[in-house]
Amino acid sequence: MTTSWWREAVIYQVYLRSFADSDGDGLGDLDGLRSRLDYLQALGVDGIWLNPCYPSPDRDHGYDVADYVDIDARYGGLPAFDRLLADVHARGMKLLMDLVPNHCSSDHAWFQAALAGDQDARDRFIFRKGRGDDPPNNWQSVFGGPAWTRAGDDWYLHSFDPGQPDFNWRNPEVGAYFEDVLRFWFDRGVDGFRIDVAHMLFKHVDLPDWTGGSGYNGLAQNRPEVHDVHRRWRKLADSYGRDLTLVGEIWVPTVADLALYLRPDELPQAFFFDLLVRPWDATLFRASITRGLEEIAATGAVVTWTLANHDVHRTASRLGVVEHTSGPPTRPRGVVDTALGIRRARAAVLLELALPGSVYLYQGEEAALPEVLDLPDDARQDPTFLRTGGAEVGRDGCRVPLPWTTDGPSFGFSSSADTWLPQPPWFGDYAIESQAGVAGSAVEMHRAALAIRRAHPGGELEWLETGREDVLAFRRGGLVCVTVFGPEPHTVPYGTPLVSSDADEPAEGSVPGVTTAWFQA
Ligand code: NOJ
Repeated sequence: MTTSWWREAVIYQVYLRSFADSDGDGLGDLDGLRSRLDYLQALGVDGIWLNPCYPSPDRDHGYDVADYVDIDARYGGLPAFDRLLADVHARGMKLLMDLVPNHCSSDHAWFQAALAGDQDARDRFIFRKGRGDDPPNNWQSVFGGPAWTRAGDDWYLHSFDPGQPDFNWRNPEVGAYFEDVLRFWFDRGVDGFRIDVAHMLFKHVDLPDWTGGSGYNGLAQNRPEVHDVHRRWRKLADSYGRDLTLVGEIWVPTVADLALYLRPDELPQAFFFDLLVRPWDATLFRASITRGLEEIAATGAVVTWTLANHDVHRTASRLGVVEHTSGPPTRPRGVVDTALGIRRARAAVLLELALPGSVYLYQGEEAALPEVLDLPDDARQDPTFLRTGGAEVGRDGCRVPLPWTTDGPSFGFSSSADTWLPQPPWFGDYAIESQAGVAGSAVEMHRAALAIRRAHPGGELEWLETGREDVLAFRRGGLVCVTVFGPEPHTVPYGTPLVSSDADEPAEGSVPGVTTAWFQA
């Protein structure tokens, strides 16, 4: 039996509008991405996950899909997509798209028909009578404010922005529609999907008030019926015989809940976000890794590790918080030591890349790019910022267009200086091209690590005794990975590391403070 390609794959997440712009409109596009495929191939990633690039009015930057079987003209339309897919495959890489099944855009033809009074179309969404002048229940939108908006006499449910009406998954037409959507893209050649909020879709049938406090709403997510959808999609994907994958974005209270989505007939993969919400602490990291490996592996699935994505603060800034004053663990605010954060981020990702399972890297993470924490309010576009009146700054700071070069109108992102989010002047210091080929740079660390990962067949993780609470070490196959969380160096009985997160020339027999190093076992 051959092993599925995705079980140990390293996938690079492309937030398209911020990756590379080919036509000078300040917005990234598919030909821009295509022009950078050599870079991604040389970095050594196995594939790309492309954030939604379907036609969209961009209330939530593509997560409000107006047409599921087309590509937005601003990104180059279907012809550019086909060119990209062919070039990705020609390089032996895979391409995953993003499926958004919980909601569409209010511009979608079905919702427009629903607003115009078509009853069949209305039944594909969740319209209800209000309670007097109040919404039908007390549910809150994930982006802040009520989860209901009035349309005529009724209200419609939107778990996110009002521009993202939730589908009624109890209507079989919705399920049939999404199976057609999956077939459309699988027939075109894509290798899988990341599934947006894969734990939502179904809502409690009676839509009662939620009395469980703010945050997670157990009546609007993680309902038992959702598992049947994933079983159907797994069957559909497997019917192609091409080893296609489906990666769930699933935020549920416990790892045990998450593991249910990974039963052998459900999703092949789901992000393990546990590590992403941990501060820089050896005990917490070890507990998180152990929990992931034990509880996920029990289903026969592998863990899909991730430290960053387009919804959270960049790792260098998140782990650089030395005094946390506000914000959730994914977007902590407070006093940030960026230099320390970069050291920690590099050490964290090198540790992650040594773990059994697959890894998702977020664009710019390989350059140790920090979050843009001080975007001007009038530049911010995230509905989270807009709907909370600025109380939550939101996600724009990790979405600022990438710096490729140290200078130029937008640091090599576009021929225009007018990018859709403004880049700060210091962005050029992290330019990807200025790191390529430079020993000790973050980009070169990633390239070396990915090459070693490929050359070394994996194996189970075996923890090693280190005699220090702030030092983690484990053996895996032919490698030993040592991470020193604290500032003091740690003496090790190994020679020169194969790769180290420390930018300086590696020293023999010792791992510096706040550093990960890999050794030949
Ligand atoms: C999760 C996506 O990652 C996020 O960017 C989006 O805003 C929500 N789902 C709604 O689709």
